[in-house]
Amino acid sequence: MPLTRRALLKSAGAAAIVLTAAGGTFVMTRNPAKATAPWHTAGQDYTDPRLRALSYAILAPNPHNRQPWLIDLRREGELTLHCDSNRLLPVTDPFNRQIVIGLGCFLELLQLAAKEYGFQTEIQPFPLGSAFEQLDERPIAAVRFHRSESVKPDRLFQQVFKRRSNKEEFDTARPIADATLLALQDTADRTVLVGATNNSKQVSALRDLTWRAMETELKTRDAYMESVELMRIGKAEIEANPDGIDLGGPFLETLNKLGILTRESLADMSSSAYQQGFDMFKPMMHSAMAHIWIATEGNSRTAQLEAGRAWLRVNLKATELGVSLHPLSQALQEYPEVRPHFDKVRNILEAASGQRLQMLGRLGYGPQLDPSPRWPLETRLKEA
Ligand SMILES: Cc1cc2nc3c(=O)[nH]c(=O)nc-3n(C[C@H](O)[C@H](O)[C@H](O)COP(=O)(O)O)c2cc1C
Repeated sequence: MPLTRRALLKSAGAAAIVLTAAGGTFVMTRNPAKATAPWHTAGQDYTDPRLRALSYAILAPNPHNRQPWLIDLRREGELTLHCDSNRLLPVTDPFNRQIVIGLGCFLELLQLAAKEYGFQTEIQPFPLGSAFEQLDERPIAAVRFHRSESVKPDRLFQQVFKRRSNKEEFDTARPIADATLLALQDTADRTVLVGATNNSKQVSALRDLTWRAMETELKTRDAYMESVELMRIGKAEIEANPDGIDLGGPFLETLNKLGILTRESLADMSSSAYQQGFDMFKPMMHSAMAHIWIATEGNSRTAQLEAGRAWLRVNLKATELGVSLHPLSQALQEYPEVRPHFDKVRNILEAASGQRLQMLGRLGYGPQLDPSPRWPLETRLKEA
């Protein structure tokens, strides 16, 4: 994820002058409200419990905000979750591992939402089996809904609208307490291993490692271009395609109109736009105050789903505790250029042989952020 609004704002002096001259109207109309509408309409106006739960599930975190979920509702009282093969990340996620983790986040959120409204869900992962190298046509999960008197809401659900993946610098004057890490580890509630550290030596090694892995991604043309092609710059692009990497707000849009921040300038690795994007990552990674990670025994598709379900819970618990969480996947990926980081992160985290590190994130206290775009639920339903 090569850019955040904040870092570019720092270098937006010229744009600020242009904006001031242009007056406030432009500034006030740049919010991509249509793209974030699903955050405001979730749960409303649905009588079918499946649709109501799905309207929350689409708010799940997922890699590069690809939103790869596709839902078949043709069987009454059930839904089948598929992966949209047009929404994969072939360079940075060659085995679709992260895509499956994102679908695990989706399933956990679906279950939390169903519980909130008194429904139990029976989730059968990969009911027709799964392929390891690449996902195929077979469904990711079959989910049965039934009303239950005994189902209890999960308090983590209260955090759904506030949850974010926070890609900003964190406050380096505010440590993360041991008790916070324990609470995050305890909440996972799944068959995964959750590790966490605020040990200064380990955090320092991970700060460096995550920055180096990001540096490799930014310098590896195919990997970097996968991000550039998913950038939506300005309100019109974000609303037309409410997914990928959204670069919104009046300043970035003005930089875009001035020709400073365009997909072409970002694709040019000798441009100042590229350099500025590059420069902002080191301080970001070095503002980590603690790290948290999820590992699984083996790397089956079901294990990947479990990792996603646990990550969603950790993200919601962090929100409840007022802590920001930023997933950092670069060192865990499978393309050849990141291999040295992959080996190193396993050493730092003392991963046992046979264990697969599925998620790694940095923790700290960061600024509050707007929600990220989402496609409306109706666009994610599989046609009959
Ligand atoms: C499996 C997985 C991997 C991710 N990896 C990264 C990452 O390396 N860097 C990053 O900035 N965000 C990463 N994210 C976060 C997504 O970019 C984020 O969930 C998405 O943009 C939607 O934003 P939200 O979580 O704030 O709703 C990852 C999320 C998932 C589920």
